Amino acid sequence: MARFISQDSVAAAATEIVKTAESAVDITGAWITGSALRLLLQSIRSKIEAGQLNLRIICRLHGLTDLDITDLGAIKEFEQFGAQVRFSRRLHAKMVLVDHKHGVVSSSNLTSAAGYVHQPESQNWTNFEAGVVLEPADQDLVADAAALFERIWDDSVPIDAQAVGVVIGEPITTQFDVIMVRPVKRSQYVVAECEGGPLLGKIDEIKTINVSFPTLERPAASQNSTGYNREPLPDLRSLFTGESKEQGFLKLTTFFDPAAAFNVATVRVLKQRVSDQLKMALVPTAPGGIVQQPTDDWLLSLQGEGELEIGRALNHESVPVHLKADEILRRHCAVYGMTGAGKSNGLKVLLRSLVSWLKHPSADGQAQPGNLRVIVIDTHGEYASSSKQIDPDARLVNVLVPEAIDLLDDVSIKEGLNLARADPTLKEKIWAVKERLEEDGSTADCAAVIDELKQVGATRGSTLDRLFRAFDRDPQKFALAPQPEITDASSGRAEDFEEPGLYILNLNKVHDITVRSESVGHVIDHVFERAKDSEGTFNSLIVIDEAQNFAPESGLDPVRSSLDAILRVAREGRKFGVGLIISSQRPANVNTGLRSQCNTHLIFRLVNANDLGAIADTVEAADRSLVSAMLPQLDIGTCFACGTAIESPFFAVVPLFGGAAPVAIEPQSDLLGAFRSVSIDRGPLDKSDRISAD
Ligand SMILES: Nc1ncnc2c1ncn2[C@@H]1O[C@H](COP(=O)(O)OP(=O)(O)OP(=O)(O)O)[C@@H](O)[C@H]1O
Ligand SMILES: [Mg+2]
Repeated sequence: MARFISQDSVAAAATEIVKTAESAVDITGAWITGSALRLLLQSIRSKIEAGQLNLRIICRLHGLTDLDITDLGAIKEFEQFGAQVRFSRRLHAKMVLVDHKHGVVSSSNLTSAAGYVHQPESQNWTNFEAGVVLEPADQDLVADAAALFERIWDDSVPIDAQAVGVVIGEPITTQFDVIMVRPVKRSQYVVAECEGGPLLGKIDEIKTINVSFPTLERPAASQNSTGYNREPLPDLRSLFTGESKEQGFLKLTTFFDPAAAFNVATVRVLKQRVSDQLKMALVPTAPGGIVQQPTDDWLLSLQGEGELEIGRALNHESVPVHLKADEILRRHCAVYGMTGAGKSNGLKVLLRSLVSWLKHPSADGQAQPGNLRVIVIDTHGEYASSSKQIDPDARLVNVLVPEAIDLLDDVSIKEGLNLARADPTLKEKIWAVKERLEEDGSTADCAAVIDELKQVGATRGSTLDRLFRAFDRDPQKFALAPQPEITDASSGRAEDFEEPGLYILNLNKVHDITVRSESVGHVIDHVFERAKDSEGTFNSLIVIDEAQNFAPESGLDPVRSSLDAILRVAREGRKFGVGLIISSQRPANVNTGLRSQCNTHLIFRLVNANDLGAIADTVEAADRSLVSAMLPQLDIGTCFACGTAIESPFFAVVPLFGGAAPVAIEPQSDLLGAFRSVSIDRGPLDKSDRISAD
């Protein structure tokens, strides 16, 4: 018959009944400590390990305070032996049921304060407890208790292999906290249960909580001489005879082992999956909900369907990050990052992807691959040297900029004659003379223009006078509007980009900034004009590395030709099928008008405050935490990809160009190792038992 028990008899009765277990032990407890669990289950541990006995444990996980006492590490340890463990956010009942035929229902949690100690009679434990022992004869009562256990079991959640944690606290629609049971990293994606459809979120921050190092209420008062703000450790005796021995034990272990702690992650909600579609999340998840790793298809659908792989998702190595080719070709793209951050490498990877897509487009590919020329402006010759790896059919081109002094360009005259400043009136005179000669039907070459001007004469020492004398010395040095010439580097023949494919303009031997700018300006103008005349049949993509040199924010004079040409493409290229990719280590130094026309961004590591400011100003997806906390810390080769070519921003780890292809890494499976448990070197009994038994 059922009998009433109290105080230490509760723990003693439960332990005795468990000893008789043959097939099943079911335990519920709001709080469960490692020492109590070991004490209760010591006698049947080998049966559990041998798989002869089915052990089910339900404990409460509602808020962080539960973990001040409950020892997740110990529970996980039993899970490894074969126990099935579930967590409930509303559990309060305390039951130990054995073989579905007897057990104890009581007020006692599985803690030493409730009597789970080795020598209860000598302990000054404080809780008043009460309970009932159910005997095999109390069939109806046992059946009722067993039914309640099943109900709680069904309502509780398992931590299965995919689970990384449990929602705690007070979730809101945009954010929730998760107590982690497996290791996670900042910016990793997770999925949380939610009514109406699971929520996809991203870990914004992770904090480690150690009860020996609490947040300080009185920081100044708690400072000790060594400067640490650790809670003072009380003497050992009071630690284990106080009101809550479990907290004392936890304090002791975490004091001597600061790494023993648990992690709480803050997750930002991104989307909710409602019947296979990602929608805005309108309801929050609930505390106690299980948080899992997302499967790859979640992350792929978050990106949208791009064709150009640029790398793998950070923390999710099996998930490729894709950009939409069409958006890159039509809506302009910018690549930023400090020197050495991996921009050129990233561009090579992107170009290789693009070329291979052009050659093998998917069945539904929108672009007409047969009709795209990609022209790379290569300041340092780094694309030229890997051109064959990017595209075996790549062609190198040169631009020959005539060195002659252009009589129709005042800046050219200024530089050619070493004048202090350009003289626009001189240019006007020369234009007027040239036009008159043409109207008269005479030859309008340099000699004729200079002769005509000489008729009027020039004051000695004037600009005109200096021009006459320079011309007389070397007439060959002068020309009227000389045109640069684009040639194929291997054949030397004129190149007009008629053939689709990859072209690389190697400028590494061109040191003069004006000549470089003119070469680039000429190539871009040429492409733009052809595209304009072609009525959409001459699609092109112009790729400009080191864009700050060709389209700067200030110091425009020497680079006027490239700047004008680039800005024209930035503003009007879309209409005629001319796309732009620019790259720069100093976004703040790139022309603002150009920056604002770029709709897709790949941002590598950036630390300069001006550059970060430029990103915050022009990149829509760049919020404060990204700019201040993430961008300055990115590793080489990792970039933040955002904009119209990818539906949600992603961190991508770009492979080293020419290096081995990235290898997918197996998901972490070590449950216990991953959980930074508070357990330290425990045998069958833990330290609290040994210390308190001394
Ligand atoms: N994704 C990557 N993985 C591994 N290493 C990389 C990666 N990207 C770049 N690196 C390393 O960093 C070096 C510099 O990279 P890269 O030339 O792409 O930088 P950058 O951003 O273009 O710099 P700069 O602004 O000076 O041109 C490379 O030579 C390579 O060794
Ligand atoms: Mg570079």
